[in-house]
Amino acid sequence: MKPILYMAPIQGITSFQYRNEYSRAFRGYDCAITPFIKSVKSDSIKKSHLRNILPEKNDVTFEIIPQILGKTPKDFIVLARAIFDLGYKAVNWNLGCPLLRVRRKGRGSGMLPFSDEIADFLKEVIPAIPNKLSLKVRLGAEENRDLFKLLPELNDLPLKEIIIHPRTGRQMYSGEADVSSFEESLSLTKHPVVYNGDIDTIEKFEVLANRLPMINRWMIGRGGITDPFLPDKIKHLKINTEKKRLDRFASFHKALFEAYRQELSGPAHLIGKMKEVWWYWTRAFEADDKFFLKMTRIKDVDKYLLAVEKFFGGKPKLLV
Ligand SMILES: Cc1cc2nc3c(=O)[nH]c(=O)nc-3n(C[C@H](O)[C@H](O)[C@H](O)COP(=O)(O)O)c2cc1C
Repeated sequence: MKPILYMAPIQGITSFQYRNEYSRAFRGYDCAITPFIKSVKSDSIKKSHLRNILPEKNDVTFEIIPQILGKTPKDFIVLARAIFDLGYKAVNWNLGCPLLRVRRKGRGSGMLPFSDEIADFLKEVIPAIPNKLSLKVRLGAEENRDLFKLLPELNDLPLKEIIIHPRTGRQMYSGEADVSSFEESLSLTKHPVVYNGDIDTIEKFEVLANRLPMINRWMIGRGGITDPFLPDKIKHLKINTEKKRLDRFASFHKALFEAYRQELSGPAHLIGKMKEVWWYWTRAFEADDKFFLKMTRIKDVDKYLLAVEKFFGGKPKLLV
C-alpha cells in the first residue's frame, strides 16, 4: 500500500510561500494541512484573515486542507463556510495546539478533557457546514486518558479522519511520541487515522510502518522541514546524487527567499522569516558554526545573500 503523506501545519514555516515553492521543487506530499486560522466573533470573514489560503496565492500539486482553531460553534461555522466558498472541500479542527495561552482558554489541546463539549460542538457544526471535517488531536491536555475517553464518543459522527499526535499538550514536544498510546487509540475509533509524530528519517518511518501495518496515512512535520527530501524518500522516488541534492537545496532556498521577498516588507521581516527556516535547515548539514553564528547576526539582505551563497558554494556536507 502506497503511503499517503501529509505536510504538517507548522505556524510560521508552512506558509503559502513555503508550500508553493516546496511543491515546485519536490513531489512526495499528497496533502498539506495549513497552520491554524483562528475563528473570530463575526458574521463575515475579511479576505485578509484568509490570506494564507487564498486560491490566487496557492499554487501546489497536492491537496490543501485549511485548519481552524476555535471553540465556539457559530464562529467556526462562519469561517468554515467562507473557506468552502474559496473552494476548499475539507477543513481540519485543531484540537492539538499545546501552547499554554491557547490551552488555558480551553482551545486546541485544552479542549480535550471536555469530551461532551467536543461532541456537542461537532453535532452542531457538522450539519451546518458544507465541508468535510477532520480533527487533529493530541492524547490529551495533561493526560492520555482524554483521548481514550473522547474517541468512542466520536464513532457515530461523520468525520473525514482523525490525525493523532501521540503526546499530551503539557508535554509540548518533549520526550518521544507515545506509539503505544497511539496503538491503544486505534482500537477505540472507527474513523480513518493519520499517524503524526517524530518521523524524521526514512529508518524511523520504516520502523513505524512495520509496527503500524494498519496505518496508511502519515503526517510529517519538523522532520520534513529539516529534510525536504524525506517525503520523496518514503515514496521511493528517485533521489539525486549529493551534488544534485545540494543544488536542489540551494535553488529551493533561493525560490523561497524570492517568494518571501515579494510578500514581506523590510529586511528585518524577510531575514527573520528565513532564519526561522534555517533553524531547521542547519540540522541538514554538517555543523558549520561560523556560518550559522553569522546567520543569527545578519540584518542586511545583501550580506545575508552573500553569506548563503558562500555557504552553498563551499559544498557543505549534506546529512539528509
Ligand atoms: C513551530 C510549530 C508550529 C506548529 N503549528 C501548528 C499549527 O498551526 N497547527 C497544528 O495543528 N499543529 C501545529 N504544530 C504541530 C505539528 O503540526 C506537528 O503535529 C508536530 O510538530 C509533531 O509532528 P512532527 O514530530 O512530525 O514535527 C506546530 C509545531 C511546531 C513545532
